[in-house]
Amino acid sequence: MTLPAIHTLKFPEEYGAAIAVNDILPQEEAAEILADAQNLAGQVLYFRANITQPAEIQRLFDSVAASLKLPDIVCCHAGMAEAFPVEEYPLQNFETLLDLNLHAPFKVAQVAARRWIEHGLPGHLIFTSSWVQDVPWPEITPYNVSKAGLKALMRGFARELAPQGIRSNAIAPGIVAVGMAKRQWDHEPQYRARAEKAIPLGYLQPAESVAQAFLFLCSTMADYMTGAVLLVDGGCSLYPMD
Ligand SMILES: NC(=O)c1ccc[n+]([C@@H]2O[C@H](COP(=O)([O-])OP(=O)(O)OC[C@H]3O[C@@H](n4cnc5c(N)ncnc54)[C@H](O)[C@@H]3O)[C@@H](O)[C@H]2O)c1
Repeated sequence: MTLPAIHTLKFPEEYGAAIAVNDILPQEEAAEILADAQNLAGQVLYFRANITQPAEIQRLFDSVAASLKLPDIVCCHAGMAEAFPVEEYPLQNFETLLDLNLHAPFKVAQVAARRWIEHGLPGHLIFTSSWVQDVPWPEITPYNVSKAGLKALMRGFARELAPQGIRSNAIAPGIVAVGMAKRQWDHEPQYRARAEKAIPLGYLQPAESVAQAFLFLCSTMADYMTGAVLLVDGGCSLYPMD
């Protein structure tokens, strides 16, 4: 089965990238989100594959190659977080979280690496970690574990695949004004008080600052980087939080 490309946008030429976005969101929902991305660059195609499923990952790469080409850069970005004290954390939830945050990036990166090697091409893997890869932010211990593991995973790909011209790096954002962090910041006063103390720069991280870090890593300016974590966290990792 070939996954349909459902959304094409034209952007200013300055970055010139063609971007294949993958998520499990229904096409209409994804189209709405991508419609906001007017100031990006090049062409954006949306694909829908569950990256915890190896067969869907293969189909995703087939579809992207058929619509565009084999990607030069693969970003493993999808992830989830849930908050429970360690003594109450449901074991099944821990497994589900590791499946998405740690096993899925390995599966995606492995497929990308195999295809680059098969075609004799260089490639670049970029993983989305978090400042909590090194700091035990309370009540999300399995998430912290997944990001610490992701750092090791990224370095493993970097170490083993450098001879094939495949680079591997990570971006570690801080507390970004999207998703669960934004909801908690807006609706949970206790979370907000703790988060405010934890961000030396004093404000929630704009999503654009994460995008800028991606842009840098994707650019030729980062060509000599491999095995690195680009920390873009407003200083969160400088402090113990409480
Ligand atoms: N929000 C933050 O403060 C923050 C900080 C540091 C790092 N991060 C990391 O950034 C990344 C994105 O986080 P976010 O806050 O934007 O989360 P989000 O929940 O807004 O986005 C995650 C996306 O992943 C998709 N997804 C979930 N399961 C999937 C699957 N099986 N296959 C394909 N796609 C799937 C979801 O549909 C969703 O669109 C994650 O890796 C997260 O750990 C977030």
